Amino acid sequence: MAVSDKIKREVTKLRQQLEHHNRLYHSLDSPEIPDADFDTLLARLQFLESEYKLESPDSPTQRVGSEALSQFSQVTHKQAMLSLDKVFNEGDLQAFEARIGKRLDTEDKFEYSCEPKIDGIAVSLLYRDGVLERAATRGDGVTGEDITHNVRTIHSIPLRLRNVGAGSLIEVRGEIFLSKPGFKRLNEMAEVAGSKVFVNPRNTAAGAVRQLDSRKSAKIPLQMFCYSVGIVEGVALPAKLSEIFKTLDQWGLPVNPDRDVKTGIKSCLQYCLKLLKKRSSLTYEIDGAVIKVNNLTLQKELGNNARSPRWAMAYKFPAEEKTTTVIEVEFQVGRTGTITPVARLEPVFVGGVTVSNTTLHNMDEIKRLGLRVGDTVVVRRAGDVIPKIVRVVSSITNKHPKVIRLPKNCPACRSVIEKDGEVLYRCSAGIICPAQRKEAIKHFSSRSAMDIDGLGDKLVELMVDEGVIESVADVYAIKAEQISALERMGDKSAANLIKAIEKSKQTTLPRFLFGLGIREVGEATALQLVNYFGDLDKIISADTDSLEQVPDVGPVVAQHVSVFFNNDENLTLLRRLQEYGIIWPKVEVSDNVKPLNKQIYVLTGTLELMPRSEAKSRLIALGAKVAGSVSKNTSCVVAGPGAGSKLSKAEELGVKVINEKDFLALLNELNN
Ligand code: IVH
Repeated sequence: MAVSDKIKREVTKLRQQLEHHNRLYHSLDSPEIPDADFDTLLARLQFLESEYKLESPDSPTQRVGSEALSQFSQVTHKQAMLSLDKVFNEGDLQAFEARIGKRLDTEDKFEYSCEPKIDGIAVSLLYRDGVLERAATRGDGVTGEDITHNVRTIHSIPLRLRNVGAGSLIEVRGEIFLSKPGFKRLNEMAEVAGSKVFVNPRNTAAGAVRQLDSRKSAKIPLQMFCYSVGIVEGVALPAKLSEIFKTLDQWGLPVNPDRDVKTGIKSCLQYCLKLLKKRSSLTYEIDGAVIKVNNLTLQKELGNNARSPRWAMAYKFPAEEKTTTVIEVEFQVGRTGTITPVARLEPVFVGGVTVSNTTLHNMDEIKRLGLRVGDTVVVRRAGDVIPKIVRVVSSITNKHPKVIRLPKNCPACRSVIEKDGEVLYRCSAGIICPAQRKEAIKHFSSRSAMDIDGLGDKLVELMVDEGVIESVADVYAIKAEQISALERMGDKSAANLIKAIEKSKQTTLPRFLFGLGIREVGEATALQLVNYFGDLDKIISADTDSLEQVPDVGPVVAQHVSVFFNNDENLTLLRRLQEYGIIWPKVEVSDNVKPLNKQIYVLTGTLELMPRSEAKSRLIALGAKVAGSVSKNTSCVVAGPGAGSKLSKAEELGVKVINEKDFLALLNELNN
């Protein structure tokens, strides 16, 4: 059957449209049309291609995956895919520059292309006449596997290059990877579906690239950054790598936006250190930086060693994941009595520091990991985030596994451990437990609280153990002789500590309040409480309703604050502290009359335009109170869909009711 020109034109147009939207969505992150419209266009193209036998390898319909292959075909790389030499420090990077300077017999500074070293899978893409013909893994550098079927499913890889015509053969190389958000999303979906979670982005990407069934691969949102070219025929390329990247970008190939050009190895080092700082905020995983001589003529002159080019160097960053062994699991008692399991580890250098213990958070985490003492585990430390055990390496057998059980009694005072909520356990003894006392005093004297210089964790423990202090108030009754009598403390350090304790008496109310260690009251909440109430007595006498008016204070925090100040022992402690002379400047609470001063709002039903917490804090910022129930004193009820009894009550009492749109208009009008 002859296919009409009209159909052919429609097919061409659909392909152009779909590639355009594909690029907007996957490469530029700015879709113009809803997903459903895209699917409609795609379905129409699929229909026309199969009905009129118009299938083509560069059609967007090829991206959805196809029948599973029985095996991979082998691909021989015409130009070997090399590896990189690595350095771990500044000196070795300088030696690299000295070596190439010597080889090229010059003392000139070189220009370098500096790039992130992506932690993914190296691949080669071959475009003939501008159309993707074949994609292959690196393999052993000489022979790889044909993975064209999977690469076609990667939306940011063009099936046809822009402005590249017939007669050309272009091989582009780069790294295929799975982004951190992509990995997170996949695992969230796996968890919902109850299927096995993925181990890490690199393994997931490697698995997807080597799938025989491209429909499975298509479900993994892989990406790629191109970092070099291989064979190039029939097109002229610029003489600098940095310019080649611009050409690749113009052809529609993905290149890394975090690359840069630097002159001299010192600037390259600065690039590496800056990249290391940025590492945890990047959306993809890297294991270092790659420094390449930018000039291609010089690259040629320098040539290659057996496995790696002489003109490039990988500056490796410390690994963020390492394996080690769990020697023991101990249980720590926190300031508020929470019992936390902590794993003692065979020390391991990971993410730039040596880690020898790590929190396991709670018993559920131990269960989730399936952890036993003696297990080999993967420890992860990314950026400044505290190190954590991410999984047990189940392939390594534990010869003497020991099941981890929560103790029945507090390890510090032997009191019974009680369950508190879903996952937490607590020592039932309260402040008489020496571990809780120690933690409370450590917290009180810490930098963000009373900032008592010299009263560190070890000294607090010693003083409690020796019976010098029992509570935070005792800190202000310590005598110099008591300090100098302690092990490793002399007259000088005793005098310094007394001075620091004295100095700490002049504080601020937020610091003092934070230092009291009320559950869930961190620095920010302490500040909010002080800003709202202005003085301590008002906070002490506030009921939970008024506490809940404070921004970011919900029912749980309000309850903790109220319980703390309704406890006689705590009130005695406060009185003692004030008698010792702790003072703070008076806090000015702004008396400016706010637009919604004295008004009481109630939020009910589902709010669709903003989270309830935001609605609440915006009302409070305007001076209103937000109450949980409707009464005749209520000024206004904001009712969203699904509002029930509160809405009826408002109507019954004749209280003003507005919907969320009107509410938003009101906020805008009040300039909030
Ligand atoms: S260039 C001849 N640039 O690192 C130069 N490689 O350890 C070949 N890699 O096999 C590589 N990011 O898979 C280069 N920006 C980058 C890279 C990069 C990641 C990988 C690549 C290579 C491995 C070498």
